[in-house]
Amino acid sequence: MNWKADWIHLPGQERDEAPAPGPYVRKAFVLESPPTKATARVTALGLYEVWINGRRVGDVQMAPGWTDYRTRVPAQEYDVTGFLVPGENVIGVKLGDGWYCGKMFVYDRRFYGDHPEFLFQLSMETAGDTEQLLASDATWKATEGPLLYSDIYDGEAYDARKELPGWNLPSFDDSAWKAVATRPVGKKPLIELAEHEPVRVIEERSPLDIDEVEPGRWIFDLGQNMVGRARIMVPGEEGRTITIRFAEMLNRDGTLYTENYRSAKSTDHYTCHGRGGFEQWEPVFTFHGFRYVELSGLPRDVQPDESWVTGVVLHNDIEPTGSFTCSNPLLNQLQSNIVWGQKGNFLEVPTDCPQRNERLGWTGDAQVFCPTASFNFDVLAFFHKWMKDVRDAQKENGLVPLVVPDGFGEGESPAWGDAVAIVPWEVYLRYGDMTILEDNHDAIRKWIAFQKNDSPDLVRADRGFGDWLQPYQENEDQLRGDTERSLIGTAYFAFTAGIAARVAGVLGKPREAAEMERLAADVRKAFTDAFWTNDGRLSSDTQTAYLLALAFDLLPEKHVPAAFQHLLRLINEADGHLRTGFVGTPLLAPTLTRFGREDLAYELLLKETYPGWLYSIRQGATTMWERWNSYSHSDGFGNAEMNSFNHYAYGAIGQWMYETVAGLEPDPEHPGYTHFFVSPQPGGGLDWARAELATARGTVASGWRFEEATLVMEAVVPEGASATVVFPFGETEAILWQGRTVENVAFKYGERTALKTGPGSHTFMIKM
Ligand code: BGC
Repeated sequence: MNWKADWIHLPGQERDEAPAPGPYVRKAFVLESPPTKATARVTALGLYEVWINGRRVGDVQMAPGWTDYRTRVPAQEYDVTGFLVPGENVIGVKLGDGWYCGKMFVYDRRFYGDHPEFLFQLSMETAGDTEQLLASDATWKATEGPLLYSDIYDGEAYDARKELPGWNLPSFDDSAWKAVATRPVGKKPLIELAEHEPVRVIEERSPLDIDEVEPGRWIFDLGQNMVGRARIMVPGEEGRTITIRFAEMLNRDGTLYTENYRSAKSTDHYTCHGRGGFEQWEPVFTFHGFRYVELSGLPRDVQPDESWVTGVVLHNDIEPTGSFTCSNPLLNQLQSNIVWGQKGNFLEVPTDCPQRNERLGWTGDAQVFCPTASFNFDVLAFFHKWMKDVRDAQKENGLVPLVVPDGFGEGESPAWGDAVAIVPWEVYLRYGDMTILEDNHDAIRKWIAFQKNDSPDLVRADRGFGDWLQPYQENEDQLRGDTERSLIGTAYFAFTAGIAARVAGVLGKPREAAEMERLAADVRKAFTDAFWTNDGRLSSDTQTAYLLALAFDLLPEKHVPAAFQHLLRLINEADGHLRTGFVGTPLLAPTLTRFGREDLAYELLLKETYPGWLYSIRQGATTMWERWNSYSHSDGFGNAEMNSFNHYAYGAIGQWMYETVAGLEPDPEHPGYTHFFVSPQPGGGLDWARAELATARGTVASGWRFEEATLVMEAVVPEGASATVVFPFGETEAILWQGRTVENVAFKYGERTALKTGPGSHTFMIKM
C-alpha cells in the first residue's frame, strides 16, 4: 500500500506500568467544493474511531483489528464521498491502547509499542479530474480528553466532565491542542487492507432480571454469557462515578464471581457530567466476557430498570450459515452453547477465551474447533486471515508457536502447532477453496520438516500440553493428563504428514505427495514400534491414546480390533464416561461411530453426570466451559486459575452432531459440498434431527424423523451438486422414494444401503 501519510501521535504519552489517556486527534481543512468521490484509508497502532464533520466513519469496532503488528498492520478503506462539504471540514479521531500497547499475552503491557499511533489518508477526486490528498502529518493536532484510559483486559474509564463539545466539528477552537509528533511509514511493518469481516455490534440484549445484592450494588442478568460491552443509562449527577463490573457467574450469595478473570480487572468507570437528565455511555476500546453486569456508585434511593443496562454483543461479522436442531432440548441447548462459544471467541483471532487476562489465539483450540466453526458460520475469510497470522508467526525452523499472533516465543506443542496443516485442510474440505491450500503449502511443509528434524527415530519428544485438562487427575495441577506426550506428538506427526500428502496431491504434486505419504507411513510404524507393547496394548492405557491410534489409522490392521476393545474397556471402567481432555475429546464420538458403536457415542454425549457435555448444561451453562467441571451446584467453582466459562474447545462435538446425528457430511473427494453425504445415524432416543447449511452452491440439508414404524429421511441438494444418501438401516425393499422401492438405484455402502441423488428436495420412507 502506498502511503503519503506519516504515523502521528500525541507526544509525551509514553506509557509505563500505568495506562495513559486515550488521545483525541483532529485536523481542520478547507475545501472549495465537495469531491465527487472521497476514499479514506485508515489504520492505527492501537485502536481508532474516526469521524468526518462529526459523522462516524464506518461501523467497525476494535479497528483496525489484530495481527502481529511487528510484521503486518491491518487497515480499512471507507467511501466517505458524502461526508465532505464546501468550506471547513474536520477529521476527528479517538485512539485507544488495544492489543498494541495495552495489556496482552497474560502479563505484558506495551508488547508491541508504548503509545498509540494513527495513520490516515483521504483521497478526493473533483470534477476537473484532479486528485487531492489529505494525509496525517505534522499539521494535525492532538490532546487528552475524557477517555482516561482503555485496556482490553482491564476495561475503560471515561470522565464526561472532560468532554470537548464540538471537538470533531468545524469551528472548534483547538489552539490549546498540541502539534502531533510524526514518524515516516517505512517498509516495515506491512500495512494491508483487512479482507475478512470486521468486528461489529451484532446484537443487543436486555436484562432479564435485576437484583440489589448489597445496598447500592445492582446486578443485571442478561441471561446469556456473552462478549462485548454494557451500555449504561444512568441518572446524571456531576462528578458521580459509576463503576461497572462484570462476571460470567454469580457466587452463592448473589455477588459477582470474578476470580476466574485472574488479573484482568474487567471494570469500566463512568464519571457523569451532570448537565441534566439521564446520561448514556458505552466504552469503545475494550470488551468483556460476561453474563452479569454490576452497577455501583449510583445515587441513593434509585430503582434501576432494564433500560439502564444493555448488553452489546461484539464479534467478527461472520455470516451464520448452519443450524442443528433435534428433539432433545438438552442437545439444542448444547448447540446454542457452542454457537455462543464461537461468537464470544471469534473476535479478530480465534481465541481460547474472551474474559480473563488471556484471550489469545491458542492454536490447539482453534484446530479442534475449526470443523464445527465452519458449520455454524461462514469462517472462510476469518480463517484465511488467521492463517496469514500463523504464517507470520511460524519460526525460521518451521516451529508453529502456541498462540497466534505469537507472544510467547519458542514453545511448541503437538496438537497445537498442527493447526498449520489441519485448519487449511478442513477449510478446503468445507468450502472447496484451493487458495487456502496454495497459501499454506509451504508453511505445512516447513512444519513437517520441523517435526522430522526434531524427532530422532520419528518419535516426538515428551513435550507440550498433553491431553490438556483431562478430567479425573489426582491433583488439580496435573493439567496435562496421563497420556504420554510423545505418543500424542507422534500420532499428530503421522496425522499431519498424511494431510501434507493430501495437500500435495490436491495441488498436483504427485512426487511430493508420495514422499509425504512415505513419511506418514514411517511415522505410523515408529508409533507402533514405540507405543504398542508386547501385551497387546498401548503403553499409555488411556482413552485418548487408543482414540489417536484408531482415528489417525496408526496401527497395523492386526492390532486394530484389540485397540478398539481397549477403548471400550476404558469407557466401561469409567462407568460409561469420557476421560479425555482437549486432544482426545474431539475424536471420541467420530471414532466410536466409525467402528460401529454410535450407540455408545450417543450414550457419552447424553450423559448428564460428570464428565460429559450435558453436565455443564444441567449446571446452568449458556456457553461451553473450559473444564468439564468448571462449576457444579454441589461443589461450586473449579480452580479459578483456569476456569473460563466461555471456551469453545469441547464444542468440537458440534461436528459430530451435524455430521452424524443429523447426517450432513462433506466429502473430502468433492470439497465444498459439490458432492456430500446424507448419512444420519439415528439414536440416543431422539425422535428427529435436522441440519442445514448455506454453501456457495445453495442450501444443503439432512434430516430425519420417526413417524411410528417409519423413518422419514430428507435430503436437500442444491443445483449443481449431488449427494449420496446412506440409509442407517433397512433392506432396499423397505425404502420408498417417490412411492417406489429403490432396488434399481440402491447399492451396498459398507454394511449399509445407499443411493445417489441430484438436485432437489428428496424424501425417503423407510419401513422398520
Ligand atoms: C488456554 C487453553 C490453551 C492452553 C494450552 C490455556 O491457558 O486457555 O485453551 O490451549 O492454555 O495449554
